[in-house]
Amino acid sequence: MGLKQPSRKQAEQKIRKLREEIKHHEKKYYVDNDPQISDYEFDLLVKSLKELEGQFPDLITPDSPTQRVGEQPISGFSSVEHSLPMLSLDNCYSYEELEEFEERIHKIIPGEKIEYVAELKIDGLGISVIYRDGRFTQAVTRGDGYRGDEVTLNVKTIRSFPLTIKDHHEIEVRGEVYLPFASFEMTNQEREKKGEPLFANPRNAAAGSLRHLDPREAASRQLDVFLYSIFTEGKEQKSQWNSLQRLKELGFKINPHSRRYTSLAQIRSFWEEWNEKRESLDYDVDGVVVKVDSVRQQNALGRTSKFPRWAISFKFPARQATTQIKDIRVQVGRTGALTPVAILEPVQLSGITISRSTLHNEDEIRRKDIRIGDHVLIERSGDVIPKVVSVMKERRTGKESRFVFPTRCPVCNSSVFKPEGEAISRCENPSCPARLRESLLHFASRRAMNIEGLGDALVDQLMDNGLVRSIPDLYNLKLQGLENLERMGSKSSRNLLDEIEKSKQRALPRLIFALGIRYVGERTAQALAAHFKDLEKLSTAPLEELVQVEDVGPKVGESVVFFFRQPENRKLLSRLKKAGLKLSHKEEAKKGTLPLAGQTFVLTGKLSEITRDEAAEIIESLGGTVSSSVSSRTTYVIVGESPGSKLIRAKRLGIPTIEEKEFAKLVGKG
Ligand code: IVH
Repeated sequence: MGLKQPSRKQAEQKIRKLREEIKHHEKKYYVDNDPQISDYEFDLLVKSLKELEGQFPDLITPDSPTQRVGEQPISGFSSVEHSLPMLSLDNCYSYEELEEFEERIHKIIPGEKIEYVAELKIDGLGISVIYRDGRFTQAVTRGDGYRGDEVTLNVKTIRSFPLTIKDHHEIEVRGEVYLPFASFEMTNQEREKKGEPLFANPRNAAAGSLRHLDPREAASRQLDVFLYSIFTEGKEQKSQWNSLQRLKELGFKINPHSRRYTSLAQIRSFWEEWNEKRESLDYDVDGVVVKVDSVRQQNALGRTSKFPRWAISFKFPARQATTQIKDIRVQVGRTGALTPVAILEPVQLSGITISRSTLHNEDEIRRKDIRIGDHVLIERSGDVIPKVVSVMKERRTGKESRFVFPTRCPVCNSSVFKPEGEAISRCENPSCPARLRESLLHFASRRAMNIEGLGDALVDQLMDNGLVRSIPDLYNLKLQGLENLERMGSKSSRNLLDEIEKSKQRALPRLIFALGIRYVGERTAQALAAHFKDLEKLSTAPLEELVQVEDVGPKVGESVVFFFRQPENRKLLSRLKKAGLKLSHKEEAKKGTLPLAGQTFVLTGKLSEITRDEAAEIIESLGGTVSSSVSSRTTYVIVGESPGSKLIRAKRLGIPTIEEKEFAKLVGKG
């Protein structure tokens, strides 16, 4: 272009102005639903900003609108503790139960007038986002309520989240991330085209997107969010209603249908209204959340171990219909689980045509006495795939037939394993095509053989092109075959081969864990490795010896025996051995005598001499543990270049921090 390069100062000013403008229009478009300029004009603004930032890369800041979608896939998610637990809600299904909820409140705080906020209960995923110094800093999923996964880069792609806010306190906001129906359908259509398994409902699709390792993928799914809580360091909102208003003031998206009420009768009308109208929304709602408005009263009411006593979810009834079962088929899932599925006479259920229904497992079919040809009542609660509620036995004609559950895998014909007292039968052949994909991903995963770069997309390609038909095939991959794959240049092919080669050196506990034996998690794998010291010995161990091992009961023991009894798995073992994997512990040292035994390390920032994974391996090999979040139990935080919030947390908790050099000395590599 003939344009003159702007001076640095001019660029700085222009960049600031463009960012303000873009942020303003993002809010108008995504939060307020009230766009003021065309998409084209908006794109032009972003393009100018990108150009300027391209000329002055050092002026790029993480909160620039150009930085919403990271360019690089990430290698995994770390688990983070919530500062306050993210509780779930107690449910009720009738007005009487809602009255009982109020009675319980009156018992605890007698004589007080209670005001409520009624909000729609969005069927999505709970999320917590922290803003520090006015900037979007960290996003964590609800997880089990106490710990969740850090999904910052993915949540940052949600355009209705402001990247900056005008409040410099440390602020945590919480809300529900969801996938609008339209985006859900688009996602599933694309998956169908690619032959990928479909998501059962928008919630699962949203969960999948949040946990996608490539933020660009997550961005393409068009997630959205409604916020409902805000916690500001050193300040407390007086009421839920004020919280919602404050969220709105700061530019967050709140659900527009929330209302404040003074009586349960009003809440009942609100509930009835939305029970009728719920289909008109572009997202799934499964009830009304009723919250005591006053924060003082909330605090007085407190919580049980699971739920707050000041809130309840008043659920909408599930949507039901009747139809006929035409056939029952068995599907093999990615974990090898055999799931019987009823093929139904297609029927409309709240706007969606239903033609299949999961029957869960063999016992369920027997318990409900479900037969082919039966008329059944089905129910949808969020899922696109509904369940059978009951059989209408009075409509039987005698022509119905009982279903016989297969004893061999319908895909690969291996025998099926069903542990005593369990409902689900599984195909235990890791090379069963239905299972292979999952087995490969697990084998390559970070805590198993740690083969970097071998993720979903590549595994699919390898399988589709017939390059990998079983786990050991990984070790026969050649540069030539890989280079011919789409999007696999020679550099990435070589990297992959290097990674695979390196994996041959992994320690025995990782290999045992990587095999994906049912019930054998990391800890059990470690215990088994310590006891047997040799994979071949483990593979022939009788049950009596297995149960001698710490952490191994009959259930785990039986599963190990079953696994190694399969001819496919014996072959797997001998091929891995031939490929050069280490099947035995050479210098087996007891963990307790290793130099870093009992010490827990957390890594933050980029290290210069080695990668974080390599550091983690060194620590583990010396008996130490690596954790992803800083807590009072952390021994050291190892600090690299541009460390994250873990450093701040370490300082706050008074945990010693060391730099890479000191770490090298500590592990004897200085
Ligand atoms: S309040 C202690 N409000 O439902 C307060 N939750 O079953 C707990 N949810 O974990 C959350 N819409 O993920 C609240 N308007 C709403 C909600 C909502 C959906 C989710 C949330 C929570 C789950 C509890």
